[in-house]
Amino acid sequence: MSATRSAPAPTSTALAVFASLLLLVGPTSAGDPYAYFDWDVSYVSAAPLGVKQQVIGVNGQFPGPIVNVSTNWNVVVNVLNDLDEPLLITWNGIQHRKNCWQDGVLGTNCPIPSGWNWTYQFQVKDQIGSFFYFPSLNFHRAAGGYGGIIVNNRDVIAVPFDKPDGDFTVFIGDWYNKDHKDLRKALDDGKSLGMPDGVLINGKGPYRYNKTLVPAGIDYETINVHPGRTYRFRVHNVGISTSLNLRIQNHNMLLVETEGSYTVQQNYTNLDIHVGQSYSFLVTMDQNASSDYYIVASARFVNESLWRRVTGVAILRYSNSRGKASGPLPDPPQDLYDKTYSMNQARSIRWNLSAGAARPNPQGSFRYASINVTQQYLLRNEPPVMINGERRATLNGISYSPPETPLRLADQYTVKGVYTLDFPTRPLKGSPKLARSVINGTYRGFMEIIFQNNDTNVQTYHMDGYAFFVVGMDYGEWTEDSRGTYNKGDGVARCTTQVFPGAWTAILVSLDNVGIWNVRAQNLDTWYLGQEVYVRVVNPEDTNKTELPIPGNALYCGLLQKYQKEQVPHHRVKSSSGIIYAEGKFVILMLFLVAIATFT
Ligand SMILES: *[C@@H]1O[C@H](CO)[C@@H](O)[C@H](O)[C@H]1NC(C)=O
Ligand SMILES: *[C@@H]1O[C@H](CO)[C@@H](O)[C@H](O)[C@H]1NC(C)=O
Ligand SMILES: *[C@@H]1O[C@H](CO)[C@@H](O)[C@H](O)[C@H]1NC(C)=O
Ligand SMILES: *[C@@H]1O[C@H](CO)[C@@H](O)[C@H](O)[C@H]1NC(C)=O
Ligand SMILES: *[C@@H]1O[C@H](CO)[C@@H](O)[C@H](O)[C@H]1NC(C)=O
Ligand SMILES: *[C@@H]1O[C@H](CO)[C@@H](O)[C@H](O)[C@H]1NC(C)=O
Ligand SMILES: *[C@@H]1O[C@H](CO)[C@@H](O)[C@H](O)[C@H]1NC(C)=O
Ligand SMILES: *[C@@H]1O[C@H](CO)[C@@H](O)[C@H](O)[C@H]1NC(C)=O
Ligand SMILES: *[C@@H]1O[C@H](CO)[C@@H](O)[C@H](O)[C@H]1NC(C)=O
Ligand SMILES: *[C@@H]1O[C@H](CO)[C@@H](O)[C@H](O)[C@H]1NC(C)=O
Ligand SMILES: *[C@@H]1O[C@H](CO)[C@@H](O)[C@H](O)[C@H]1NC(C)=O
Repeated sequence: MSATRSAPAPTSTALAVFASLLLLVGPTSAGDPYAYFDWDVSYVSAAPLGVKQQVIGVNGQFPGPIVNVSTNWNVVVNVLNDLDEPLLITWNGIQHRKNCWQDGVLGTNCPIPSGWNWTYQFQVKDQIGSFFYFPSLNFHRAAGGYGGIIVNNRDVIAVPFDKPDGDFTVFIGDWYNKDHKDLRKALDDGKSLGMPDGVLINGKGPYRYNKTLVPAGIDYETINVHPGRTYRFRVHNVGISTSLNLRIQNHNMLLVETEGSYTVQQNYTNLDIHVGQSYSFLVTMDQNASSDYYIVASARFVNESLWRRVTGVAILRYSNSRGKASGPLPDPPQDLYDKTYSMNQARSIRWNLSAGAARPNPQGSFRYASINVTQQYLLRNEPPVMINGERRATLNGISYSPPETPLRLADQYTVKGVYTLDFPTRPLKGSPKLARSVINGTYRGFMEIIFQNNDTNVQTYHMDGYAFFVVGMDYGEWTEDSRGTYNKGDGVARCTTQVFPGAWTAILVSLDNVGIWNVRAQNLDTWYLGQEVYVRVVNPEDTNKTELPIPGNALYCGLLQKYQKEQVPHHRVKSSSGIIYAEGKFVILMLFLVAIATFT
């Protein structure tokens, strides 16, 4: 892997797509640059842990290509669904200001049918930082399909550190050798997923640091560096449900950014990165290269002796390295009996108030503590429960059951009865239920959300469309008095926060982005089982200035299916001479013939 990985150059197909799109999509911001991507999302075969399986690649790459743009750029991504199931791509941390139409979750978008393409177009308005995209439906993320998003500062805005000598995107995540359909089936059958088979780093298995634990022949990630230089590492936990501890042998990791905010710069020798979280570190190559160094991502809050295989190991190789990495891995935190270690580490992550981010004014000029809270929700999760004979996960006693018609589309066409706007501000008393209940957010209100985790493992929660302030977390039940412990000055603004078991985390969010926005567990299993809700933010004033119009290429489904025009499916069929397009009708005919052959 080289120090810089460039995003794919715009292809002529992409340009052609764009030309046709100009006629389709709504108003765009003239003057801001465009970046075009043409993606084929398909299965590719891989054996990251030595067991051959189907993973999801983007243009054949796993992880997918990096979207590398700058503040305010327009991003146009034509996605071809080359899977055998419906697909949506969501852009974790991208705020889609005024434009939830592009969010890529079931509440806002109809799934892209197998064989169809759909073109996303959005602006990374007033954002900087490190994010990632992933497929949001059908447990797809367990099979990959993810990739990095980098939003660089505009040239005119100072970054609070010197330009690094290189930029590495690093994906860490737990991994199963079963494919996503089997994992989904296990959950549908009421089972839990059990211990993962390992941890991948950039789609690759562990370096063979221990001959008993790691079989021979596994491809591992190597990051090549030069002595004395400083590199930026953008690390994302894209796994299913395991919190991971990240460390680089003998090296300090200087935390500089998390999910679009510049942090107070502090060195860590290790950092807990929970599912769905993103962090940027600067790492200086200040060692004498007596050997290569281990980069480790190990499972957290589990019995280490049972979970040893759930450890990702990559290699940091200096250009003057004198040999391979060997010996034991650097120690994880020894905090078995100290449940505050990780929470204190989380609390130590602060907003750098004097640094500018996407705009020239300092981040701290938004004084969140001086704004009055106008709405408050306490969202309490519980361990999975049985509802109508199914194992489900809940928030406030409600397990979200997605309607066939996306919520935002239902609003657009004033289709009634798709959802109810009555999500309870406190946990419901009585038996848990399935519902399509949505939070009624007040436009320009200031909402306090307290996540109370009654489950036995760490959960992370994410909100689309916004960055929120993480102002407090503690063990026990949240009470009014807990507000006294809030960080009123430099709580960091981000989009995903952890909530420790038996503890609460409080966030504040300014509801200034019109749309219907997903609030979800990032843990893929609890999300799949219904632990999510949407927040509806509507401007009561009749204006078209606070939300973009529905895009001309919107897909229709559910109660609005009648508006959908047929699309001739395109699958890219691999031939010996490379990739060719096949007309959908032909593919369907072939499938039909195969089906007949199979069933007779
Ligand atoms: C992203 O693009 C910028 C500007 O074109 C370039 O300087 C940088 O090296 C790129 N970063 C990566 C990781 O490709
Ligand atoms: C699908 O891609 C084609 C070009 O390959 C483009 O013309 C069309 O607009 C795309 N469809 C949608 C719904 O985005
Ligand atoms: C905060 O940002 C300022 C302004 O860019 C920078 O000079 C300073 O070093 C940063 N402070 C810390 C502690 O990160
Ligand atoms: C490798 O792992 C096994 C099993 O956990 C352990 O018993 C052994 O001591 C390890 N070997 C080395 C060289 O660390
Ligand atoms: C972080 O650690 C490096 C050494 O690895 C050191 O040079 C630097 O001064 C430290 N920075 C801070 C803010 O502690
Ligand atoms: C430098 O390398 C030697 C082995 O060549 C090792 O013994 C020593 O501890 C290293 N020093 C530092 C500061 O890493
Ligand atoms: C971890 O698991 C091992 C093997 O089952 C067991 O002997 C040990 O007591 C467990 N440790 C803790 C801290 O639970
Ligand atoms: C917040 O509420 C207090 C008391 O209700 C009121 O005095 C104050 O003016 C409000 N502050 C703002 C910024 O609205
Ligand atoms: C939703 O909140 C708005 C105020 O923001 C209020 O006017 C409206 O009546 C509420 N709707 C429901 C169904 O409670
Ligand atoms: C979950 O809630 C029950 C009932 O309030 C309480 O007894 C239990 O301690 C809670 N567990 C956790 C992990 O918060
Ligand atoms: C927005 O509304 C104004 C006035 O109602 C109208 O003139 C304008 O064309 C609309 N703009 C768009 C993009 O629909």
